[in-house]
Amino acid sequence: ANGIAKSAKSRNIIQKMEESDKNCVVFYGSQTGTAEDYASRLAKEGHSRFGLKTMVADLEDYDYDNLDEFPEDKLAIFVLATYGEGEPTDNAVEFYEFVSSDEPSFSSGQSADERPLRQLNYVAFGLGNNTYEHYNSMVRNVDKYLTKLGAQRIGKAGEGDDGAGTMEEDFLAWKEPMWAAVAEKFGLEEREAVYEPVFEITERDDLDPESDEVYLGEPNKNHLEGSQKGPFNQNNPFIAPIVESYELFTAKDRNCLHMEIQISGSNLTYTTGDHIAVWPTNAGKEVDRFLHMLGLSEKRHKVIAVKGLDPTAKVPFPSPTTYDAVVRYHMEICAPVSRQLVSTVAQFAPTEEIKTEATKLGGDKDYFYSKVTDRNLNLAQLLEILSNGEPWRKIPFSLMIEGIVKIQPRYYSISSSSLVQKDKIAITAVVESISKPGAPHILKGVTTNYLLALKQKQHGDPDPDPHGLNYAITGPRNKYDGIHVPVHVRHSSFKLPSDPSKPVIMVGPGTGVAPFRAFVQERAAQAKAGQKVGKTILFFGCRRRNEDFLYAKEWEQYKKDLGDNFIMHTAFSRETPKKVYVQDLMKDCQEELSRLLQEEKAYFYVCGDASNMARAVNDQVVQGIAAFRNVSREKAEEIVKMMRASNQYQEDVWS
Ligand code: FAD
Ligand code: 2AM
Repeated sequence: ANGIAKSAKSRNIIQKMEESDKNCVVFYGSQTGTAEDYASRLAKEGHSRFGLKTMVADLEDYDYDNLDEFPEDKLAIFVLATYGEGEPTDNAVEFYEFVSSDEPSFSSGQSADERPLRQLNYVAFGLGNNTYEHYNSMVRNVDKYLTKLGAQRIGKAGEGDDGAGTMEEDFLAWKEPMWAAVAEKFGLEEREAVYEPVFEITERDDLDPESDEVYLGEPNKNHLEGSQKGPFNQNNPFIAPIVESYELFTAKDRNCLHMEIQISGSNLTYTTGDHIAVWPTNAGKEVDRFLHMLGLSEKRHKVIAVKGLDPTAKVPFPSPTTYDAVVRYHMEICAPVSRQLVSTVAQFAPTEEIKTEATKLGGDKDYFYSKVTDRNLNLAQLLEILSNGEPWRKIPFSLMIEGIVKIQPRYYSISSSSLVQKDKIAITAVVESISKPGAPHILKGVTTNYLLALKQKQHGDPDPDPHGLNYAITGPRNKYDGIHVPVHVRHSSFKLPSDPSKPVIMVGPGTGVAPFRAFVQERAAQAKAGQKVGKTILFFGCRRRNEDFLYAKEWEQYKKDLGDNFIMHTAFSRETPKKVYVQDLMKDCQEELSRLLQEEKAYFYVCGDASNMARAVNDQVVQGIAAFRNVSREKAEEIVKMMRASNQYQEDVWS
């Protein structure tokens, strides 16, 4: 929420619920939109099945000091994602600080010992990833703190696991017994769920889509009015010129892009190790499919005004707008479709026969897996298959706004040094096409292919769109003259030591090398400027020396600047019969690495794949330490934990 909207709104949740006649609030702590989506779904279901008067609330929009006055006959639901190393999501930081403090200050003045939250009835679900050490720590800790403060949990605290790929099914399995427990506690009767729209869509024939007040994809008013005004952040992207773009390699079904994005004049700043967020646009091909399957092709440019039918329902994009703009710029239409959404759309099938099949898919987990999940279908692709291309005209557009996640910016580890180029941010992104036997479509990442389309446009490539993806690369109203991309910067704690003479050890196979290009670039510049720079050790891995060795030439230059202090170890996994990975090379020099870590307090960094690589690297460090210091594995694990806690061991990983 921007500052203006925020200060005008009440931050008192109890008052807000009273004014809008609600008896259940679903709070969310969300980073990428999934927790927010689950929160909306719970709110909707609580209403349609049990007649609860529900609202959804962003945790950062409210104060918590009056939760001790939360009425006993009302329900609070917390849907909380865990971010990175067990951290709260950005919008849940203050809430987490409040509940986890030793003595949260409640407005009534009660101390923590008096169990100030004894009236609060709550339900909790967490979204996590078991490949991270602090799996679902947000929901686990919040649950613990709320209980300690006297609050009463109804049902079990649920945990969804993105690492195992079972998030959706974990959620579905958790919510049934949870609803049963809630119904029992509050004496609610389940009723036949009927779809009730949350949003009202009015077609505005009086408005010309080209008129100044209609949003055609602009994220906010400043953009609509044509003036870019900062501050630029997660609510307001900067439309940045791309000043350089090229392919680091092109292999079959895989390319890697290097892009340089100009941020001068934006007052965006970055420091080495930060992330840049790219705001994507959906491919025209998928937008067309989606609009066609909803029977909206002919009306795609009609102006629509979208309004929440209930004062607490936030429209997730600016209005008035058009169907085309909403689908192209605001909805994650390419993501895999959820079983719950399929079971909801079933009632709007064009024929009884199709309805029966859609209902079966929605109700049968295994059947859904084999027919939908395993074939990587998004909603429109599934509808197309079920009805043989016949549009599903009865699906209300409101259901799509409610049921499809808001499109999310994607993060990239900045691969340039702010010391070397403070006004230009480099991105290193892999563009992959995945084709799976039996799946009818090739999987194409939304953002990476958008970036690739921008690159191809910039260079006037002879075959700019081989897959017919048809991205709208000039932005709404064809307004980006030249090549631009909407971005913002997210500051991170992944940082070089402030003293460059300290040794650093970096492990980054594949695109995991992105921030390390920045680190090495920075240290090379420091060395050239005459500063004393410590040992700079990089472990890099890729498939083959001649295929996907990123920045191969640049490393040679850095080697000249840094001299013997720069040591690069390369693991080419597919050049030998037995795979060689970065952790295998670490093993070969584990004594030296362990010595640097212990005696010279070297900083240790890992970037890239969170699931297998980062774990294996952690394990290798543990083994090395155990051998070098002659301690048990448990002791070595403890040492690594302490290194993490003191930021000597840092990770920038993603799955
Ligand atoms: P998406 O459209 O988001 O798709 C993601 C994946 O899901 C793809 O593999 C796609 O094939 C698959 N998928 C899409 N649709 C379906 C479907 N219907 N069914 C099943 N699967 C589907 N990436 C880099 O390349 N370089 C970096 O430096 C980098 N740094 C990062 C740093 C952080 C902190 C984080 C969180 C991520 C980072 N990433 C980086 C990853 C990046 O943010 C994106 O996730 C990645 O580029 C893919 O985005 P996309 O929009 O192209 O793909
Ligand atoms: P592979 O694809 O041949 O298995 C960048 O993607 C490099 O990381 C590739 O060489 C890839 O090898 C390798 N890689 C894959 N899984 C890994 C793991 N678990 N640990 C370390 N490297 C891995």
